[in-house]
Amino acid sequence: MKDTKRLLTGYRPTGRMHLGHYEGNLKNMLAAQEEHECFFFIADWHALTTKYKDVSSLKRDTVDMVIDWLAMGLDPTKCSIYRQSDLPEIAEFNLYLSMITPLGWLERNTTYKDQLRELGARLVATYGFLGYPVLQAADILIMHADLVPVGEDQLPHLELAREIARRFNHYYGAYLKEPQAVLSASPKVPGLDGRKMSKSYDNAIFLSDEPDAITKKVRMMVTDAARVRANDPGHPEVCSVFAAQKIFNIDAAAEIEPACRAGEVGCSACKTRLAERLSDTLAPFREKRAEILRDPSVVSDVLSSGLAKAKPVAETTLAEVRERLNIG
Ligand code: TRP
Ligand code: SF4
Repeated sequence: MKDTKRLLTGYRPTGRMHLGHYEGNLKNMLAAQEEHECFFFIADWHALTTKYKDVSSLKRDTVDMVIDWLAMGLDPTKCSIYRQSDLPEIAEFNLYLSMITPLGWLERNTTYKDQLRELGARLVATYGFLGYPVLQAADILIMHADLVPVGEDQLPHLELAREIARRFNHYYGAYLKEPQAVLSASPKVPGLDGRKMSKSYDNAIFLSDEPDAITKKVRMMVTDAARVRANDPGHPEVCSVFAAQKIFNIDAAAEIEPACRAGEVGCSACKTRLAERLSDTLAPFREKRAEILRDPSVVSDVLSSGLAKAKPVAETTLAEVRERLNIG
């Protein structure tokens, strides 16, 4: 039985999903669709705030992401999946919220400051990027979301959404709901090079990788560098293969740990076990994905049925907001 809470979360379109997305987001989304009313959307406008120079893959990345969501088990009868840019009400609402958001709130935002440093000030010194959290607040507040699952880096954005809601309510009367952040504890999935798995580091194993590709990638994974021969004692705690075993192959990890320390298992055998496990685990996903790919209308159907559920909510909010603002 679902409770009465509405959960909403968005992701920038990053294309095909990898194991890090699975552990960090998808697993939680699958659980959430059983527990709450869920809205999951593709934040393609948010993608534009940093990817405005090369937009060539924007649509494709959106479609690829939805395909992977569905193949992983998101069920459009249990949740609503839509694309932000299909809901222009969000853009209008963003405009109203931008009127009441002090610049200082945005400039102080720690995520903003971190990203300025990381992405380079020249690229993201734009009006749109500064307004990123306002647009995010519009996404959330227009749907009256109760719960918003986010990673730790997104907490300041959630706090801003709450502050914007409070300010709106203060000026125009209590109406917008203050959303609750749901911080999801997610194990860091190591990429092939030992850094956090990320498409931009080119170190990812994709959910849609074929068994051959998985095997090749696992062979490239960094292990305990101090281990030269198969019978040297190893240190699983510094090994990415072991970290992945612990996440995806927990029973094997329990056997491997002592065997590795005793120099009784070679890295090659250890990697074979991981690769086989990953291929097996992902087999139903690959099958479902192939099925979806055979019918190109699936994604657009899912996006329109999600939109049909989100749109009336957004329209009603916007009508109420306009009324309160004495607009139109
Ligand atoms: N900023 C989020 C991210 O980068 C994406 C996002 C956009 C979002 N709008 C949202 C997340 C609304 C939660 C709610 O991951
Ligand atoms: Fe890592 Fe496995 Fe090699 Fe030990 S045996 S170092 S856990 S790959």
